Amino acid sequence: MADDPTDHGDVLGVARRTGDDAMPRRLVVVSNRLGNVRDLSQAGGLAVGVADALAERGGLWLGASSEHQDSGADEPPLIRMERHGRIETAALTLPREEYSAYYNGYANTTLWPLFHYRLDLVDHRQEFLQAYRQINARFAQALAGLLSGNDDLIWVQDYHLIPLAAELRRLGVRNRIGFFLHIPFPPPDLFVATPDHAELIENFLQYDVVGFQTETDVANFRRSVHATNSTSFDAAGAAEANGRTVLTKCFPIGIDVDSFARMASEAAEDVQIDSMRRQILGLKQIIGVDRLDYSKGLPGRMQAFARLLERHPEHERAATYLQIASPTREEVSAYAEIRGQLEATAGAVNGRYADLAWTPIRYIHRAVPRSRLAGLLRASQVGLVTPLRDGMNLVAMEYIAAQDESDPGVLVLSRFAGAAEQLAESLIVNPYSVDEVADAMATALAMPLNERIERHGALLKRIKRNDAAEWRRSFIKALADES
Ligand code: ADP
Ligand code: F6P
Repeated sequence: MADDPTDHGDVLGVARRTGDDAMPRRLVVVSNRLGNVRDLSQAGGLAVGVADALAERGGLWLGASSEHQDSGADEPPLIRMERHGRIETAALTLPREEYSAYYNGYANTTLWPLFHYRLDLVDHRQEFLQAYRQINARFAQALAGLLSGNDDLIWVQDYHLIPLAAELRRLGVRNRIGFFLHIPFPPPDLFVATPDHAELIENFLQYDVVGFQTETDVANFRRSVHATNSTSFDAAGAAEANGRTVLTKCFPIGIDVDSFARMASEAAEDVQIDSMRRQILGLKQIIGVDRLDYSKGLPGRMQAFARLLERHPEHERAATYLQIASPTREEVSAYAEIRGQLEATAGAVNGRYADLAWTPIRYIHRAVPRSRLAGLLRASQVGLVTPLRDGMNLVAMEYIAAQDESDPGVLVLSRFAGAAEQLAESLIVNPYSVDEVADAMATALAMPLNERIERHGALLKRIKRNDAAEWRRSFIKALADES
């Protein structure tokens, strides 16, 4: 496949070092989920960041198709190509059972809990690992056939595809390949508990650049590499492995602040009516927006709201907590359990406190369109982002971006959210302490306007500095080895 000869605008300034200087090196992004580039209005996080990087310079995005093959696993995968302006997408149809053992199995029952420090939830099964290797090999096979030459920059996203570079190297691919991890990396004592740790580290070391969201994750990774095979990193974060230099670095992911703020200020009519109703009743709203994942600490958050009502009874009938929790990975048993637990907790709190005029917790188990979400965040006086352990938590940044600068709400943020490394002016809490979270909610609800404006102004500055554009620019620059 050749580059589109009209796509010469290289806003990232990364040009081919050989040949025509004006030609950008083609960016090839690989992720498990392929975003819908025709309509990104429902997408957040990874999908938007990747789509914007591709839209800026043109390129190819390879991901798994939502359709699966039912027949024998030996058939070569089908690839459906589409072009949307400067972005070309390649959707890979993979065998259904193998895909499930890779996605529900190894990715979300082995790696996800391990990387979120939940050894108690990790399930190791040989068939999961086998499928993980096999699907990665299929991705590599497909990608090798789509490369236009050694100059393509390959950027692999997230924990589903750790072995991809190793598989590509096996096929003779010598391109520069980068990897970005969108979830935390655990400390070595936890990491080496997986029987596959040496294989995973070997796979990581086949990349040229390995990027993480926080300095904590980078340090955990380097220490885990050292604990596994004694490889050391120099002061710049580089190590020699397999005849190449592997650079490890923190690239804090962010959001497109202006576009989210715009969406928030154009809130839908029903959101406006709901917030006017609350204004008339003198009700303040506390909001949480998350995928229904056990890493998000949702039952503890609801218990903390109940504790707020116990310890600070002035908020009875004066505050309401809206939790929007979208369904996710429902075929994995730990997710079914957390759903049951959350519904029971919401029911118990409402059963104890609700009366005819006031429902303390409003719980919505559904994805909400992004424009409505932005409006709801703006209409809430407190934003709760209290994971037990999480990657970055873009929703914390979305809450800040959505606020009215002249009357902003207050962010209550877990010290175990990746974003806590940056967002020091939020109210930082330990989510394992129900009392501490409850007291932080009370502080937030009572915070005077001048302090809210001061904290919000500082936070807004930070998320503008480390936004989505800066994230992709800095990663691609490192990948192209032009730093
Ligand atoms: P994670 O990647 O673990 O889901 P993040 O907070 O980094 O956590 O990103 C979540 C993204 O998904 C954010 O853009 C957020 O707005 C969006 N999101 C979360 N819950 C919902 C929901 N119920 N409806 C719509 N979007 C949601
Ligand atoms: O946090 C990691 C991540 O892959 C995000 O990038 C993404 O929004 C989320 O998990 C959703 O996961 P899934 O693809 O399993 O629905």
